[in-house]
Amino acid sequence: MKIIRKFIGDFIRSIRIGKNIQSDPYFIKTKQLITTELKKEPKRHDIINFLLTLTNSKQYLEIGVRNPDDNFNHILCEHKYSVDPGIEYLDYKVNFKMTSDVFFESLKTSELELSKDIKFDVIFIDGLHLAQQVERDIQNSLNFINDHGFIVLHDCNPPTEFHQREDYYFRNSPAKGFWNGTTWKAFYKFRHLQDLYSICFDTDWGIGVLSKRKWPMFNTLNGMENSYYGFKELQKSKNSHLNLQEFDFWKATLKNELKLNGVF
Ligand SMILES: C[S@@+](CC[C@H](N)C(=O)[O-])C[C@H]1O[C@@H](n2cnc3c(N)ncnc32)[C@H](O)[C@@H]1O
Repeated sequence: MKIIRKFIGDFIRSIRIGKNIQSDPYFIKTKQLITTELKKEPKRHDIINFLLTLTNSKQYLEIGVRNPDDNFNHILCEHKYSVDPGIEYLDYKVNFKMTSDVFFESLKTSELELSKDIKFDVIFIDGLHLAQQVERDIQNSLNFINDHGFIVLHDCNPPTEFHQREDYYFRNSPAKGFWNGTTWKAFYKFRHLQDLYSICFDTDWGIGVLSKRKWPMFNTLNGMENSYYGFKELQKSKNSHLNLQEFDFWKATLKNELKLNGVF
C-alpha cells in the first residue's frame, strides 16, 4: 500500500512539474531563442570557406570534429587536418585521435607527421567548450596560424545563461541538449589583446574570428577586465563586447574596401 501511494505521489508530482515547465517563462523564451538561432544563416562552413578564399586556402585545421558531415567535409581546402579524442561520436575518422593539448604538444616536438613549422590558414576551434581549454587552444593556435590567417571559434554567442552552463551532460535546463559552454569567456578575454583583432558573426551560435591582421570592422576591446564579469554583463553589452556583426554586411564592407585597394 505504501509503495502504491508513493508511486501515485511521484506520478502526480512529475505531471505537475511537466505542466509548470510548459508555462515557465524561462522555458518559453529559451525555446523561442533556440528556434531563432537554428534559422540563422550562413552556417559555420560557409563562413570558414569564405575566410579560406581570403588566404592561400592551403592548410585547414579543425579541433573537435564529431560527425565530419556536419562541418569538416564541407570545407574546401587543399590540405585538411582534424583533431578529436573521440568522446561524443562513435565512428571517428580523424587525422589525429587525441586531445588538442596533446596535438599541439606533439606538433611542437615533431612527433606528428606534420612539420613543426606548419602554418595554417584557418584553425577552427570547436573542441572542449570550457573557457580555460579554449584559452589554451587559442594560445596554441596563435603559434601555428599564418599572419593573414584566421582563428575561428564556434559557440561564442550563447542566447541564454542556460546555454553557457559548464556541464554539457545536464539536459534538464530550458536549453535542453543545446550547449555553447563558456567559449565566449575565452573569446572575450582575447578581444582585449591589442595585437589581435576580432569580430563575432551573429549566426550559428556565434562565430568568433580572431586575426593578427586588422581586417575591416575587426577591433579590440580596451580597458580593464572586470573580474566579476559574467553572463548578465555580457547580455547588457553583447554587440560591442563581442563585436557582433551580420556576416553579409561584413562581406559587403570587406569587398568595397578591397575593391578600393584594387584587390577585387
Ligand atoms: C561540438 S563537437 C564538434 C563539432 C564540429 N566541429 C562541427 O562543426 O560540427 C565537439 C567535439 O570536440 C571533441 N573534444 C572534446 N574534448 C576535446 C579536446 N580536449 N580536444 C579536442 N577535441 C575535443 C569531442 O569529442 C567532440 O567531437
